Amino acid sequence: MERENQKPTTPSNIQKPRQLVEKTIPNEHEMADSYMEMNLPFKSSPALLEEYIFVDGRIRTGKLLEDLDAMAGAIAYKYIDNGDPDSPPVTIVTASVDRLDLLLPEAVEDYKLYGQVTYVGTSSMEAEIVPEGIKEANNVTKPPKKTPEALGKLGPNTVLATRFTMVAIDSVTKKSAKINPLRTETPAEERLFEFAQANKARKKRASETTLSRHPPTHEERLAIHDIYLQYSQYKGAENDPMTNDEDKKPLPKNFVWMEDTRIDSNFLMQPQDRNIHNNIFGGYLMRRAYELAYADAILYLNSRHANLLAMDEVIFRKPVHVGTLLNLKSEIIYAEGHPHRSFQCRVVAEVIDVEKNTHETSNVFYFTMAATDKETEPRRILPKTYAETMLWLDGKRRRLQGVKSRRLLLDQLGKEDPSYTSSSSPSSFSSSSSSS
Ligand SMILES: CC(C)(COP(=O)(O)OP(=O)(O)OC[C@H]1O[C@@H](n2cnc3c(N)ncnc32)[C@H](O)[C@@H]1OP(=O)(O)O)[C@@H](O)C(=O)NCCC(=O)NCCS
Repeated sequence: MERENQKPTTPSNIQKPRQLVEKTIPNEHEMADSYMEMNLPFKSSPALLEEYIFVDGRIRTGKLLEDLDAMAGAIAYKYIDNGDPDSPPVTIVTASVDRLDLLLPEAVEDYKLYGQVTYVGTSSMEAEIVPEGIKEANNVTKPPKKTPEALGKLGPNTVLATRFTMVAIDSVTKKSAKINPLRTETPAEERLFEFAQANKARKKRASETTLSRHPPTHEERLAIHDIYLQYSQYKGAENDPMTNDEDKKPLPKNFVWMEDTRIDSNFLMQPQDRNIHNNIFGGYLMRRAYELAYADAILYLNSRHANLLAMDEVIFRKPVHVGTLLNLKSEIIYAEGHPHRSFQCRVVAEVIDVEKNTHETSNVFYFTMAATDKETEPRRILPKTYAETMLWLDGKRRRLQGVKSRRLLLDQLGKEDPSYTSSSSPSSFSSSSSSS
């Protein structure tokens, strides 16, 4: 998302350098200065539900992702607001979104979103946002304010928890703008801050462990060889020079070629989804990417019974301008197949400037999805080429990492996770089944 200071640019504020806010201690802000809540009363407001309802009667996850981004922007803006009407406008852009695990998917109930800034660097802020289901409708009008202690903890009604990194950009110079430092007041705030600081360092390290930087390990090389031995025996892998085409067998029904899961979609970037600098909100891109991934998932499963388990960290490297064409390509890159229920979907967002004839990748999204009923049996994904095998391996790494981090979250909540395998009982499975 990008949100901007709504003040118009005027000659007087262009001239004036932006001042940091002076509050109780000069130039510092407290976490609480950015605290915000947002109600999404799906159960008590039929008109709102109408806007968010999905085809099977549950809540549209894509719209929720868009709202999270909008709220992160509002929190960041609230934090940087210096109350000076003459200060030059500052644009807030979404730099990244941390991995997000959906814990209580899409039930129609009243939601409340809580959030605040938990870390501030020089021009960047981390905003933590936690949407929770509100069982009692009257809690929506008189909600308990979340303390920093409570914000950092997951509860039985937590729908998901994630963090957005927002960066302040000076609207005049288009460079990152220095913002007020954060003052922590309590040990709980210090813990949130330290966690966010460590998270920032971890993200930097994680960006260095992609496959292009870290070649496959010994075990992974064995897995690559295994997958080669599998795909080379099937019809469809005719370009493989090592095996005889006549000996190839038809692909069994529980397998699918990765290339056959590929779909794409094009969208013209419209003014309704932009900020004053003609750039598109990150939340809009997340929603579009997720909705394509969901379409891909149900085509791959031959069933509408799919839901989101997690979205891996997303980095918004480049702004997307109004008037450009957004091409989204989705494919299922990894699935162990039945009895495992989950699978990895990758969506590449490419921005095409038709007049300049340029194509640039703006983001890559990775979603972990799962089949949500016992009758739907995910097929195993088979790569054919070396490039596809690298995507497959990346998906395998992401699955392993995802299983671990979801396990940690669910352990905190004392919950079972039936989504990755079919070993759980039907009743525990149905409690988490949902859809887009
Ligand atoms: C976000 C963006 C401005 C960062 O650009 P950059 O050249 O790395 O800028 P800087 O080096 O000045 O870094 C600015 C701050 O952002 C932080 N940052 C940059 N990329 C980040 C990422 N992926 N995750 C977390 N923080 C990030 C830097 O650490 C730095 O923090 P600090 O000032 O608090 O120390 C740039 O990548 C961009 O414009 N992206 C598109 C944003 C956008 O339009 N989003 C909407 C959807 S497309």
